[in-house]
Amino acid sequence: MRVRLLGTAAGGGFPQWNCNCKGCRTVRQHPDQAIPRTQSCVTVSADNEHWFLLNAPPDIRIQIESFAPLLPSGKTLRGTGVEAVLVTNADLDHTLGLFTLREGGPLSVYTSPPVAQALIEGLGVPQVLRSYCGMEWHDAPGSLTHLTLANGKPSGLLMAAFPVPGKWPRYMGGQTSPEGSAMGFRLVDEKTGGKLVFIPDLASTDSLVAKEMGDCDLLLIDGTFWTEREMIEQGVGALTATQMAHWIVGGPSGSLAVLKGLKARKKAYVHINNTNPMLLEGSKERSEVSAAGVEVGMDGMEFSI
Ligand code: MLT
Ligand code: MN
Ligand code: ZN
Repeated sequence: MRVRLLGTAAGGGFPQWNCNCKGCRTVRQHPDQAIPRTQSCVTVSADNEHWFLLNAPPDIRIQIESFAPLLPSGKTLRGTGVEAVLVTNADLDHTLGLFTLREGGPLSVYTSPPVAQALIEGLGVPQVLRSYCGMEWHDAPGSLTHLTLANGKPSGLLMAAFPVPGKWPRYMGGQTSPEGSAMGFRLVDEKTGGKLVFIPDLASTDSLVAKEMGDCDLLLIDGTFWTEREMIEQGVGALTATQMAHWIVGGPSGSLAVLKGLKARKKAYVHINNTNPMLLEGSKERSEVSAAGVEVGMDGMEFSI
């Protein structure tokens, strides 16, 4: 399976359009100290030809343009390498790109019923897309199932989804989030046996998450914040990491302490907020991540499993 990180920033991107925090300032002024990143998206393929998007951020147009296999092949007037979109949660940074994909054929989306509910009731995605490309909804299966191409042929990938601690987006008005508001995906290459576990939004760990993280070759995981009060301390927000449903990276209760001990061959943080100091190349936080054998995801980074 070829896995390409198309976007590795959290909502807002790096830099964020209206932000002058230390990270955003540094990435604008000192290209040697930080690299820009677009919002959270990954694409995977078993055959190098047919691709699945993992989430659809508002940056999807430029992300598709940045990766030739997703573009129409030389033989077609219109076409795409994109077969379907797998959606982990209904946050705007993971779903606004669904509207951008309206010029194509019926948009095939795999997700959980609670995420679908938010997309329907909160964003009106199918109501809007009905007048453009139309949609095909698929309930993401709970156990490993063949992922098919848009033409019904096998993709060479197996997929399973699992619920993770998380929340519905703010636009759902603070309603209690049902289980399945945030999902992780497991993708397995039928030929190589390579296993990817993808959890870009994760509020905390639990026994299911621990089991999933413990059994994969490549782990791509929520790297939004380094500390609990990062947004507040940097003066750019009022919410803590816990209130925003993100498991912090740093400190004794952070994810890095757990990732260190996992046997996965490759581990990388994705969905990284512009306030996270591990985005700065020379920071002590970056050194700590590297020393633990974990990557700070970058746009264009690839893995083969
Ligand atoms: C998040 O991941 O916490 C959300 O994307 C934040 C937001 O959309 O404002
Ligand atoms: Mn987000
Ligand atoms: Zn910023």
